[in-house]
Amino acid sequence: ATASNTTETTANATATQRLPGAIIIGVRKGGTRALLEMLSLHPGVAVAKAEVHFFNLEEHYHRGLGWYRAQMPLSLPGQLTVEKTPGYFAAPQAPGRVRAMDRGVRLLLIVRDPAERLVSDYTQVLHNRRQRGKLYRPLEDLLLRADGSIDAGYKALQRSLYYQHLGRWLERFPRAQIHVVDGDALVQEPFPELQRAERFLGLPPRIAPSNFYFNSTKGFYCLLPHAGGDRCLDESKGRPHAPLRAGARRKLCRFLREPNRRFFQMVGRTFAWC
Ligand code: A3P
Repeated sequence: ATASNTTETTANATATQRLPGAIIIGVRKGGTRALLEMLSLHPGVAVAKAEVHFFNLEEHYHRGLGWYRAQMPLSLPGQLTVEKTPGYFAAPQAPGRVRAMDRGVRLLLIVRDPAERLVSDYTQVLHNRRQRGKLYRPLEDLLLRADGSIDAGYKALQRSLYYQHLGRWLERFPRAQIHVVDGDALVQEPFPELQRAERFLGLPPRIAPSNFYFNSTKGFYCLLPHAGGDRCLDESKGRPHAPLRAGARRKLCRFLREPNRRFFQMVGRTFAWC
């Protein structure tokens, strides 16, 4: 960014770009966009709209913290800057790098049923490939080996093994510095999850139930910002999933039982996952 857009003076406060005080680190397809947009309803929060991919991509990381700061939105003194990059969660280098930036940064992790997340992840890749005119194998072919057993090497399955990734973050950050948001609960009823997130971030309660309404056309909650207008997430969020055959689903759920149990143990709570 140039000098002219890094600083802007309003009546008596200076808006400038600041490093984030909180980062939504994942999980991919967990509801990270919804969480970011909903947090941005808070007047004390300034969010980076685009994913930054600073701590997970070498080409960005090597540009240094000055580059990272320049990706942040303008904020006023006292406002909390928040960015989200779901790629951080499973990137082995990310926890150490985030800590090196600021060991006090607050981390938000939004999780959802990992079997459902996997299907959503597959659906996203399928969609991207189709847009480029490419074919993609059916999900069952990627998830199951020829002998019918689960292929633990499938990338989208790896990303659903939350305990493995969280383990690396917990080597660098105390548990109390990582707030877990229930992505399935956020879909059903966003306000209570937002209240908990506000509390974790040390923000005064400003987000209200009146900031949300259920849009029956979209089938999801949409946003009613204080400033007026209404806004739903774009059509890439909350899209129908390619169905996973019942037999494959059963195998997947059986496979995930132990990884899920280990994740519950790590975070000290359980979720009603398959
Ligand atoms: P699906 O598209 O699989 O339903 P991310 O932003 O991390 O990519 O997560 C996308 C997911 O956010 C969507 O996955 C959807 O389930 C979830 N989501 C949560 N709240 C939503 C909302 N209010 N509107 C749309 N999608 C929402």
